[in-house]
This record gives sequence, structure tokens and C-alpha cells, in this order.
Amino acid sequence: MREELTALREQALRDIAAAADVSALDQVRIAIMGRSGRLTQAGEQMRHIAKEDRPEIGRLLHEVRTAVTGALEARMADLRSAVEEAELARMDPTLPGVARSVGSVHPLQHLQERAVEIFRRMGFALAEGPDIETEWHCFDALNTPADHPARNEQDTFYLPDGRLLRTHTSSVQIRTMEGQAPPVRVIAPGASYRRDEVDATHLAQFTQMEGLYVDEGVTLGDLKGTLEYFFRELFGPDAKVRFRPHFFPFTEPSYELDVRAAALGGGGRWLELAGCGMVDPAVFEQINERRGDRAFDPDRVTGFAFGFGLERLAMILYGVPDIRMFVENDQRFLSQFAP
Ligand code: PHE
Repeated sequence: MREELTALREQALRDIAAAADVSALDQVRIAIMGRSGRLTQAGEQMRHIAKEDRPEIGRLLHEVRTAVTGALEARMADLRSAVEEAELARMDPTLPGVARSVGSVHPLQHLQERAVEIFRRMGFALAEGPDIETEWHCFDALNTPADHPARNEQDTFYLPDGRLLRTHTSSVQIRTMEGQAPPVRVIAPGASYRRDEVDATHLAQFTQMEGLYVDEGVTLGDLKGTLEYFFRELFGPDAKVRFRPHFFPFTEPSYELDVRAAALGGGGRWLELAGCGMVDPAVFEQINERRGDRAFDPDRVTGFAFGFGLERLAMILYGVPDIRMFVENDQRFLSQFAP
């Protein structure tokens, strides 16, 4: 038994030293220490050893086990670090790292946040409504009759059930007044949709910002003051606004608003930027009928509304030559506006 164990140790240490890689060493380990491994079997022989020899053989068995276990661990550590070294040798620490792209606020979102912040200072709250609207909210309630060209199938995306993609955020005026009695002072940014041919200045989906203020004694002066303040805050104190008479079915009187400012470039030319006017009493009456009360009694309350597109504004402000750039999601474009 003694010679057997000594030979077993010599052979085991040779096998361990000869194992060329981690998996070969694992095979060696199993052949020695596994359930039917050589050392395991030697241990089982102990039962047949004479009682007086057991302490000595037991000690020897323990020594062999310790030596083999130690050799296995040491060889495993060597092989593992050799693998790591080979991997390290393949790595080139002088190569540039892989930069993580952080992303940036979309220029339209940035402009929208600036605009909302200015209106908030004047006491406007945020309002919203669905992009998929009823014809009533988008047109009828806004005093836009069935034969109005905006309702044409060539201009509006209709769903099979008769609903539509809202052609303007003015539907949010209606949604807000349905649910809230005066005073109402809201701003509603959001998507609008029209069946436009897509080109450098048109998209089928664009962004509008709607405003509505209804209370007792709201005047055209309030409308002018509010929009003048807004555009001066946005473009600088040199900004001038001009109101040109216009027509919208849901405001009376109605205006188009032009702005001129150094920030808008163009050597002092007037840019048409918004539609606006005093809420038409016919709109209030539609709301009253729907609400079943006189909360928007046109003899008691008046209001103004306005709406403008954000893409055009952003194109002028940031010098963007093509509206499609806003939806292409090209990071080289978007990252230029990172605030
Ligand atoms: N909804 C109008 C448009 O899209 C703009 C507008 C809003 C005009 C509010 C008057 C009042 O052209």
C-alpha cells in the first residue's frame, strides 16, 4: 500500500504538470479525485488495512491528497493566468475607447419647452387632447361647416369610423372648455396632421402650439399684449409684431400675426408666424349646448385664441434648411442643438 501511494503521487504530479490547458487539467483532476478516481479508490482500500498499519497509511494518504490538491490548484492558477495574459496581449490599450452617445433634446422639443416656459410665466397652464379626434371637436364645434375645404378628404386623414387625425390643435380649445368653466387660460402644444405632399417645407405631421384665454372682459388688447410679450421673450426685445386682418371660422375678428426681429434674420422682413383672434360667440354656444349650461355665455365672457407651428419657427431660428431633417433622426443633425 505504501509503495502504491507513493507511485500514485508521482504519477499524479506528472499528469498535472503535463496538462496543457484548463480542460485537460480538469480531466486529470477527475481521473485522480473524481468519484472513481485513483486516489478516491485508494482511500476505499483503508478498510482492508490491518489495524496497526492504519495510522501510518492514513497519514500517508492524507499527505498524498494534500500534495495532489495543492498541485492541482497551483497548475489551475498558472493555466488561468496564461489565458488572461494571452487575452491581454491581444488587446491594444492605445486604441480609442468606444464613446457612449448621450443623446440630446430634440430641437423642436427644446423650442417647445422655451415657449411653454414663457406662457407659464403669464399664467397659462398646459392642456392636451387626443391626436385622433372626432369631426365635431376638430370642425363643427369650431364653427367650421361641412362644406369647408379643410374638411375635404384631400386635406384630412379620416379613419374608417369617421374620426380623423386632427388638422390643428384648435380641437384642444374645445376639449378644454367642455371640461372647465371660465376662467380658462391654457397652452396646448401637440401634433397636427394634413394630407400635404412632403417636401422641404411640408410634412404630413407637424407641431402646433395652441393658446386659449377666456374670462370676463378679455379684449383684443390682451391678445396683442400676450403675443407681443411672447415673441419679444423668444426673439429679443427688438422683435416687432404686426396683426393683419384674416379669416378663421372660429374667431371674430381674426388676424394673421407677422414678426420682424434681428434673430429671424432676413434684413427686417416680416414673417407670417401665427393665426389668432377673438373666440367667435358661435363657438361658445356650441360648448354651452354640449355642457348643458351657460358657463360660456357670450354676453358675459370673451376670449382670445391663437395657434402657430413650431417647425417653421425652429427652421428660421436655427437656420434649418429642410423640415424633413426634424424627423430623420440623424444624430449628427440633432446633436448640434444640444442645450
Ligand atoms: N388653427 C389655426 C390653423 O391651424 C390657427 C388658429 C388658432 C387661428 C387659433 C386662430 C385661433 O391655421
